[in-house]
Parts: sequence; C-alpha cells; structure tokens
Amino acid sequence: MLPTVLTHLWRRNVWSDADAGAYSAALGRSTYVRSIANALAPYVRPSRAMLDIGAGDGRFAMALTRRRAEVATVEPCAAMRRRLVARVGGARRLRIYDTTWEQLPDGRFDLGFAANIAAFKIDPAGLHASMRARCRRMVWVVPAQQGPSSFCLSGLASAHLPDRTSAPLYLDLLRRLGPRRKPARVLLRAWTFVRHFASATSAEVAMTGWIAAAGGTASPGEVTKLVAEHARPAASGGVTLACPKSSAILVWDR
Ligand SMILES: C[S@@+](CC[C@H](N)C(=O)[O-])C[C@H]1O[C@@H](n2cnc3c(N)ncnc32)[C@H](O)[C@@H]1O
Repeated sequence: MLPTVLTHLWRRNVWSDADAGAYSAALGRSTYVRSIANALAPYVRPSRAMLDIGAGDGRFAMALTRRRAEVATVEPCAAMRRRLVARVGGARRLRIYDTTWEQLPDGRFDLGFAANIAAFKIDPAGLHASMRARCRRMVWVVPAQQGPSSFCLSGLASAHLPDRTSAPLYLDLLRRLGPRRKPARVLLRAWTFVRHFASATSAEVAMTGWIAAAGGTASPGEVTKLVAEHARPAASGGVTLACPKSSAILVWDR
C-alpha cells in the first residue's frame, strides 16, 4: 500500500469534475483528435491492444483501435472515467485503471499512447522508460505552438501572459530525452481548440481567472476587448472562442 502522502502528490494534477466536463465538451467542437488520428494513419495501424495514459474521455482510444481491441486506460479523474465508460465501454474490451502515469499497470501492448499529460514536463525520461517496458510502439502528443501553453485558450491572451515568448514544449522535451531516446518520427499538425461559453460575460470571467492563475495581468477592460475580438455567436446560443494550436506527434517504433 502506498503512503497517503505519495498518492496525494502523484494526484496533484488530477482534474476537477467541472474541468473534465468542459474539456470533454470542447474536444467535441475542436479539430484536435481528427487531425492527430489522420496524421498517424500512414504510420500506425489501428491497434489490437492499446495503453492510453491520461486517456481523458476516450476519443483517442476509439480513433486508434480496432473494433474488438483491448484498451487499457490510466485515468485518475472520476468524471473522465465516467465519460470513458460511456464512449468506449460497449465498443472495446475496456479496462480502466484509477491511477496515474507514475504507476502504470503491467501488461504488453502494441501501442502505448499519451497525449497532453503533465508527465511530459515533470519526468519525460521516467514515462519513456515505463512505457517502453510495456509497449511495442509508442506515440506521444505534445504541445508544439510557440508562446503560452498554460491553459487551452492561452494563445488568445499571449500579450497578458508571462510565458508569451516560450519555445514550443516539444523542443524542450526532445532535448531532455536526449539522442538515446530520439523518436523515429516527429509529425507537426495544426488544429483549433474551440470552447463554448453561455455568454460573453462568462467567457470574460473564465479568461480573467485563467490569466491570473497563469501569473499574468489584464485589466477588466483588456479582457472585455480580448473576448469581443474573438467571440463568435454559437448556433445553440452563447458564444465560442477558438484558439489555433499545434501538436508534435512523437512516434517510437520497436
Ligand atoms: C489535457 S487532458 C488530455 C486528455 C487526452 N489524453 C487528450 O489528449 O485529450 C489530461 C488528462 O490527464 C489526466 N491526468 C491528470 N493527472 C494525471 C496523472 N498523474 N497521470 C495520468 N493522467 C493524469 C487528466 O485527468 C486528464 O484526463
């Protein structure tokens, strides 16, 4: 049994139910999963046994596996696990591990997959080693845009954020992995993140909170201007904000 303090530490990046719901809904409007799955199609055949780490709501598990495939997912957020069951449960042989990337389940998988998880910043070499021990082929999807990546819509608020001049995360990741762990392929793909808000005012409230949490500063007037510039009316009511993104898809073959 793990000491409670360690378990707590490992779970520090786990999302709240509200964040999970909003992220999942935003993916339904975004071009992210389609763009990554299309880019991988020439290189990675639909998998029979996939390990998906930080699996979120299971969209990648569905896009990258065959019909009767075994899908093992590591997902510490309860709200995401409920979404996983709803999306993947009936369609694949699904196992869900309520754990974190630091404690991967044993097993052998033809595809190991991890997209947009905090492990890339915290311990890329450790994640690489434990996935390598279990997976024949590995794919990581890592933010590749220049500038801020502190929250999903941070690209719209660059001018107000301290990380506005940051280099793309994947370059730092490749440097930290070093030549011994160099991927066989690095594919770059552009896509758009789209999030819906009940009104422009609720978009302003959310933006103000995210900018502050990322250590940035913006006056109420600046946030209003930013939202007015980017908000588009949604067919279902409310508004959407769309942010251009880029991902690096790192592929390791055995
Ligand atoms: C940005 S989402 C990415 C979800 C999905 N992979 C995607 O690309 O859409 C990050 C996911 O990692 C999960 N997560 C948080 N901490 C984690 C940890 N320590 N180990 C594994 N997953 C974690 C979150 O619950 C969330 O589902």
